[in-house]
Amino acid sequence: MGPPCQRCHPAPAFGEYDCVNTEVGPENRALRGGPSSICLRYSDTHMHKSRKILFIFGTRPEAIKLCPVIRHFREKWPHLGVRICITAQHREMLDQVMRVFDVVADRDLNAMRPGQTLASATARILAELEPVLAQEKPDLVLVQGDTATTLSGALAAFYSRIPLGHIEAGLRTGDLQQPFPEEMNRVVVSRLAQMHFAATPAAAANLLAEGIDGTNVTVTGNTGIDAVLCMRDRLESGGIQGPDWSFLDQSRKLVLVTAHRRESFGEGFERICQGIQKIASRSDVQVVYPVHPNPNVSEPVYRHLSNHANISLIEPLDYVSFVDLARRSYLILTDSGGVQEEAPSLGKPVLVLREKTERPEAVEAGTSTLVGTDVAKIVDNTTCLLDDAAEYGRRQRIHNPYGDGRASERIAAYISAFFESTLHQ
Ligand code: UD1
Ligand code: UDP
Repeated sequence: MGPPCQRCHPAPAFGEYDCVNTEVGPENRALRGGPSSICLRYSDTHMHKSRKILFIFGTRPEAIKLCPVIRHFREKWPHLGVRICITAQHREMLDQVMRVFDVVADRDLNAMRPGQTLASATARILAELEPVLAQEKPDLVLVQGDTATTLSGALAAFYSRIPLGHIEAGLRTGDLQQPFPEEMNRVVVSRLAQMHFAATPAAAANLLAEGIDGTNVTVTGNTGIDAVLCMRDRLESGGIQGPDWSFLDQSRKLVLVTAHRRESFGEGFERICQGIQKIASRSDVQVVYPVHPNPNVSEPVYRHLSNHANISLIEPLDYVSFVDLARRSYLILTDSGGVQEEAPSLGKPVLVLREKTERPEAVEAGTSTLVGTDVAKIVDNTTCLLDDAAEYGRRQRIHNPYGDGRASERIAAYISAFFESTLHQ
């Protein structure tokens, strides 16, 4: 059985449009996998046999958002050569995800060092990717998001003159300091990429505003939603099970917390912890906080919040367990990008512990509120959601602006059509 015929079974567009070019010539229609694409069933025996895609990633969120894409390629487009290089910028948190998705790397740079700095991690990963690209010789490199690995992977592809695709392209706050250094990483990667997979129409519009050619921008939805919907459905159907949650007190409202952003290191984290202490002083609340292992995070968090009866500080959870805990929660306090995107799929209101967000869609939809690291704003907004059932219900919207679970499918179809269009070049 060959790959799905794009003429017969195109993935429906996500958002307002699936490709932002308005002048759609034959080449561009082929790129978007639209009506002018040939039926791939007739040509798959020869068309892609020498085409190789190299996925480069290294942190927990990149892995969560790329494993569904990798699995989709391997299951539906098996004639394409898919290779995986993990930098292991994260070690334990990356390995947790790889285990959950049953994805095995072909190459592992094992680059994490305890307390690594931005420059040291970025430089080490960039240098170690050079020989990998020389040996693998991929036709396309795919990176995701905005981490040091994303930037280094994009630069390494550029230096090796290999085409680059960027998944989750176009997120912007417009402030290079927030999030730091991710906003800069995104801007640079967009400048280097030839294919831009934007999750939402607003992200695509950001790219166009920077002069990126719209024929190379496709709106796909976020692959993180593919991941969370898959896990949610399997948990709900009993196909997989989360861990034993017997330490949770069913009579209390569960407030789930995650936070790790660099721009909050120092005073920001002191204030976040003060806010959490105040929230946990309520007898109807239980706070659970899987603590990020970055020492700049874990030191203040354990100093302020350990030994508090209503606060459970736990190790980072594997992805299945985290989704299971999130769906049991009442509300989520987070500065995480991925968690902001996932929460609407679980029907959970989010208070965002950041001054600015590059994910405005949920704020506009009313499921997220920016509270920054201001103690009063954190406590007041949490109190409102705990006490005002009508407001809580209003914010508990189920529609997710970030995806419909088919982003991987759209990305794979676009790339396959790209290879097809370049077959005879
Ligand atoms: C990185 C990303 C950030 C992303 C976050 C997701 C950059 C610049 N930052 O931040 O965009 O939102 O990951 O979590 O790429 N550590 C461990 N074990 C692990 C992972 C981390 O011990 O599995 C500790 C190590 O001491 C490591 C430190 O955390 O040196 C910092 O890791 P690093 O990847 O540099 O930054 P993050 O803060 O995790
Ligand atoms: N996550 C997880 N275990 C945890 C906390 C978060 O698996 O203990 C998942 C979460 O569901 C989301 C992703 O990690 O998919 C977000 O990663 P993180 O917050 O580290 O990075 P960001 O998204 O902010 O870049």
